[in-house]
Amino acid sequence: MADSEITGRGNWNSKLGFILAAAGSAVGLGNIWRFPTEAASNGGGAFLLIYLVCCFLIGYPVMMAEIGIGRRTGKNPVGAFKALSSNKLYPLIGMWGVLCGVMILSFYTVVAGWTVSYVFEEIFFAAGMTGWATWIADTSNGWLNALFAVAFMACTISIIRSGVSNGIEKATKTLMPLLFIVLFILIGYVITQPGSGEGLAVYLQPDFSEVTPGLVFAAMGQAFFSLSLGMGALITYGSYLSRKENVPQAAALVTFTDTLVAFLAGLLIIPAMYMAQAQGISIFDSAGDLIAGPALIFQVLPALFHDLGGVLGVVFGVTFFMLLSVAALTSTISLLEVPVSYAIDEFKIKRKDAALYIGLGILAISIVIAFNTGLIGTIDLIFSQVGLPLGGIMICLFLSYVWKTDKALDELELGNNNFRNSIVGKTWKVFIMFICPVVILYNLLSALGLF
Ligand code: PFF
Repeated sequence: MADSEITGRGNWNSKLGFILAAAGSAVGLGNIWRFPTEAASNGGGAFLLIYLVCCFLIGYPVMMAEIGIGRRTGKNPVGAFKALSSNKLYPLIGMWGVLCGVMILSFYTVVAGWTVSYVFEEIFFAAGMTGWATWIADTSNGWLNALFAVAFMACTISIIRSGVSNGIEKATKTLMPLLFIVLFILIGYVITQPGSGEGLAVYLQPDFSEVTPGLVFAAMGQAFFSLSLGMGALITYGSYLSRKENVPQAAALVTFTDTLVAFLAGLLIIPAMYMAQAQGISIFDSAGDLIAGPALIFQVLPALFHDLGGVLGVVFGVTFFMLLSVAALTSTISLLEVPVSYAIDEFKIKRKDAALYIGLGILAISIVIAFNTGLIGTIDLIFSQVGLPLGGIMICLFLSYVWKTDKALDELELGNNNFRNSIVGKTWKVFIMFICPVVILYNLLSALGLF
């Protein structure tokens, strides 16, 4: 297939553009909201260790597979499976991905709306308007949740309507470095505060007796969610990538960046929880479960910023929640791009129309969730924790036994000469054919109590 054929649908302007957009998709609420909450409720260090193993040994090979499938076919996730086999069943793998994307985006938009509402909370608090601050930060207020979800979806739709290089690429380029700087400064502050040492120990010293099938299930789901794997987001992004680029290297950079941000977020949030506890704020109930649940970071971080006080407190509070909103936005655009690229390729709908109508359809589900936030856990369980690893198994098996690893390796060698004979190439083949599908399947079944 000629490169121009790919260019017709949109293309990245540069290699850095692809890496930043893929890293932008990966880095999001998953790293800063979901990861610390999961780590805190699953034994800290033990979770971190298993999570790192899942990211590098399972996530990284699957990421290469997705980008390779996308670049080979130049198609959306459904079209990609159609292009690589004439069997009508395989595109169902892509359909499952599109469904997971739609459902994840529907709750993600609501949580992303919370991050925006907390930008206002910080401003109101600093201005001494504590009543307003408490009102706007009430995540149980359905109308407010809906309002912020609408605003967030409007931003996502407008970026997707501007296309690949203009919209998605530009949005990610400058903000990622800023996120790192703010994280580093905040970590520096937190770890010098009383109480944080206990949190550091919980996070960095694994207690192996805590490793259970439930923990491994949570870590695997988290790795797929955080790396944006299993639903074809990276098939889609790979479809806009030039044949000259080095896929194994790009995937390594994205995996590393994403894991680093999650690790840093844990280094900030978990000590901050214990610091808050030292100040008398209860974090765990008597059974050892997190009191705040998914609202954890929205409880711990504002307490931290208010504690900092003065100009520093506002500057960090506002900057942090603004950056988190942008990190969420670069993820929502990749989530929406999956069904939109499907509609553009398969139904020949114009990008602008596809983005608008699909975005509005998903927003309708978000509004239902805004009034029933208890649904977030259930949708997350079905479509992220189970759905994404399930998609990952199907992608590995399809690549290995239908498309065949040799053909995939031909694709991965474009931009990475002789990859198949390198250690990474040889290991990748074994992982994608046997280790990844077996480990993911075993993990899903054992969490269901079937093993
Ligand atoms: N990786 C994103 C995050 O960590 O917030 C969420 C996500 C984006 C999941 C895109 C799946 C996806 F395809």
